[in-house]
Amino acid sequence: MEQEKKQIVLSAVQPTGTPTLGNYLGAFKNWKIMANDMADKYDCFYAVADLHSITVRLNPADLRRQTLEMYAFLLALGIDPEKNVVFIQSHVPQHAQLAWILNCYTQFGEASRMTQFKDKSEKHPENVNVGLFSYPVLMAADILLYQADFVPVGDDQKQHLEITRDIAERFNGIYGDTFKVPAPFIHKSGARIMSLQDPTKKMSKSDTNPKGFITLLDDDSVIMKKIKSAVTDSEAKVYRGEGKDGINNLMEIYSCCTGKSFDDITAEFEGKGYGDFKTAVGEAVIAELRPVKEEYNRLMSDKAYLMKCAAEGAEKAEYFASRTLRKAMKKVGFLQLDR
Ligand code: TYM
Repeated sequence: MEQEKKQIVLSAVQPTGTPTLGNYLGAFKNWKIMANDMADKYDCFYAVADLHSITVRLNPADLRRQTLEMYAFLLALGIDPEKNVVFIQSHVPQHAQLAWILNCYTQFGEASRMTQFKDKSEKHPENVNVGLFSYPVLMAADILLYQADFVPVGDDQKQHLEITRDIAERFNGIYGDTFKVPAPFIHKSGARIMSLQDPTKKMSKSDTNPKGFITLLDDDSVIMKKIKSAVTDSEAKVYRGEGKDGINNLMEIYSCCTGKSFDDITAEFEGKGYGDFKTAVGEAVIAELRPVKEEYNRLMSDKAYLMKCAAEGAEKAEYFASRTLRKAMKKVGFLQLDR
């Protein structure tokens, strides 16, 4: 029987701090499932998007440290670096090279419509740099270089995937088939985990109130405290409903960590108050994150191993990336050297 061709999965995370429960439930958990449980269907490429993170001013030593830490988190999820390509974006120069080319196939108007650009320029009015503006084009390059079929991300990246598809279709329309047009892979559950303090806002590591987010390195007692102080409502009934943003969010978190449906959760806490519910959510999150935290700590004590994996990941990624870049450059008409 002919073996079915595996589909390509690519995603990335910025090394801008310790990842949150939002990163974990919205992205990492699915990355792990696609890389491990569905390894017969997918070839996975996961990157630490360090080039992206300099759109905000970072101390060089912090950038270096955070990049290695984020790389360790990816391996700590249980993603096997031998069977998958786990790499650091700046180690593969083709990302920046293709991004330049794609800049010339992206309209100023469409880049201006990106909500993340608008949000970030409002947050950092002192540093609205061109990199921040062309950020989605670099992200398109990340994806298109690997001819990715699927891009598992949280809901906040949807618009960036739409522009990636538009850029790919435009380029293919001019030069013929060059890039695979990727599909977003946004899992219904966990796609948008909200702040524990303001459940109308996305959970984010840049939140000025640390009680709003849980990081993958928070101690068990800190996790429990943050869940216990999560904003809810005065109804004291666990069910999904309009105006119950806090409870909706905690139910989402609980469901992602336990696999239970919303109906099952409502039944489980029938007649019980929010105190019991929050304790159960806290315990579920602690149990979910514990193995990642332990493996992360183990990996961080072996930096030589991490650097070896990063070097091998870069070499594998570059093999694929250079093929696509060469193809795109040839189509555009750059003079090729015979070598
Ligand atoms: P980043 O680093 O902000 O986040 C990494 C992943 O985590 C998801 N995420 C969330 N999901 C659910 N709820 C939340 N509160 C939450 N917060 C974050 C994000 O959707 C993302 O999937 N631009 C990207 C990084 C990137 C990339 C790429 C992604 C660079 N190149 C190519 C995919 C493909 C970013 O800033 O993600």
